[in-house]
Amino acid sequence: MEKAPPPRFFFLKRSEIVFSIFSVILLLSLLLLLHWFTPFQPLLLLRIAGGTYDKPPPEGDAACDYTSGRWVWDGTHRAEAYTEDCPFLDPGFRCRQNGRSDSGYLYWRWQPRGCNLPKFNASELLERSRNGKIVFVGDSIGRNQWESLVCMLAKAVRNQSSIYEKYGNPITKHKGFLSIVFSDHNLTVEYYRAPFLAAVSRPPPAAPSSVRSAIHLDELNWQSKHWVDADVLVLNAGHWWNQKKTIGS
Ligand SMILES: *[C@@H]1O[C@H](CO)[C@@H](O)[C@H](O)[C@H]1NC(C)=O
Ligand SMILES: *[C@@H]1O[C@H](CO)[C@@H](O)[C@H](O)[C@H]1NC(C)=O
Ligand SMILES: *[C@@H]1O[C@H](CO)[C@@H](O)[C@H](O)[C@H]1NC(C)=O
Repeated sequence: MEKAPPPRFFFLKRSEIVFSIFSVILLLSLLLLLHWFTPFQPLLLLRIAGGTYDKPPPEGDAACDYTSGRWVWDGTHRAEAYTEDCPFLDPGFRCRQNGRSDSGYLYWRWQPRGCNLPKFNASELLERSRNGKIVFVGDSIGRNQWESLVCMLAKAVRNQSSIYEKYGNPITKHKGFLSIVFSDHNLTVEYYRAPFLAAVSRPPPAAPSSVRSAIHLDELNWQSKHWVDADVLVLNAGHWWNQKKTIGS
């Protein structure tokens, strides 16, 4: 009777398996050690791979379509138009103060196809928006965008007391709407919480008890009368793409 051959896994000899496991453990230990010294930034790999970095095309084509392009990670330019000490930031949105240690997200920029975005200039935007009304409507993504724009504009205002919430409402955990006045420019930058944009009200009488509210697709949100005279209206409807949110709230 012949002796059974030694066990083989995926056609590897036992010594090869031991070597592979040892290599994997060594690699993981090295990564852990590296992470200890410099927190791991996955975006760095993209840059090393040359995946998202491309040379910007020449500037200044007036006919450029800014909506067509892609996000580019550029490790040489830190895009930080404001810092987390901006008083209009919700404490919950202050990533770094809440413990976020990586900073790779600050190095992304939008690269339109065939042209470059002009560099953001807060005083120029304030001047162009004089006597105006900029309105953000939607869920927390829109709220993030609204807070960012307010903080970016506030950087160009010398007298910070001239910027205030129209009705004295606090920013934190405030529901409904908020209107930030840039009084030197007679400009308001407003946010309306309306995750579904459409009207939401009680369910119809015959609905099962598990249905808590009904979305009326043929009716605008009741706050929409405040949006109609906006000079710029930014809509955000993230909840519509998340089935759980549509069912749950
Ligand atoms: C921003 O715009 C203002 C007014 O148009 C101009 O005076 C200023 O030089 C600009 N700042 C930068 C950094 O380009
Ligand atoms: C402020 O802007 C509004 C339009 O949003 C305008 O009706 C009003 O006259 C402006 N006020 C001043 C003092 O210019
Ligand atoms: C700053 O703005 C506030 C509110 O508009 C105003 O009362 C105050 O006089 C301004 N301060 C200066 C130095 O202009």
